[in-house]
Amino acid sequence: MKNLQELFVHEIKDLYSAEKQLIEALPKMVKTASDSKLKKAFSRHLDETKQQFATLKDICDQMDINPGNTKCDAMEGLIKECEGLISEDAKAAVKDAGLIACAQRIEHYEISGYGTSVQYAKTLGHEKIAVMLDEILDQESNCNEELNDLAVYGINKKAV
Ligand SMILES: [Fe+2]
Repeated sequence: MKNLQELFVHEIKDLYSAEKQLIEALPKMVKTASDSKLKKAFSRHLDETKQQFATLKDICDQMDINPGNTKCDAMEGLIKECEGLISEDAKAAVKDAGLIACAQRIEHYEISGYGTSVQYAKTLGHEKIAVMLDEILDQESNCNEELNDLAVYGINKKAV
């Protein structure tokens, strides 16, 4: 990679792979969650993630990026941890609390990735792309806050 543009392309490919993997993992999280609000939050985020993936595809088309087989190793690891928790023998409320912890790790990772990409896009003068990425960043932040509220104002206490 010789410049910020190439690093930006690398970031976009990474996010593309991350969202793609998450689309496959979220249904298991929806299924495992016991708390109805948590189930709903995960299933809403699955819909959102599908839209985000479509937006990334759009960005790739606009910028002539071929996402190819680039794999986001970090997302693979985060999902593996989540699957580990899902297979644990744990009380429902405890599993819910653990699922939130896994999901928030994922959101924090995505917030970091989109935050960086928005700034690269701005620096490189890709204004329209920056706006598209910033919208996803907002969704990830909102999702993280929603999960945080569910944990702090209910699920963690249920798990005590
Ligand atoms: Fe996402």
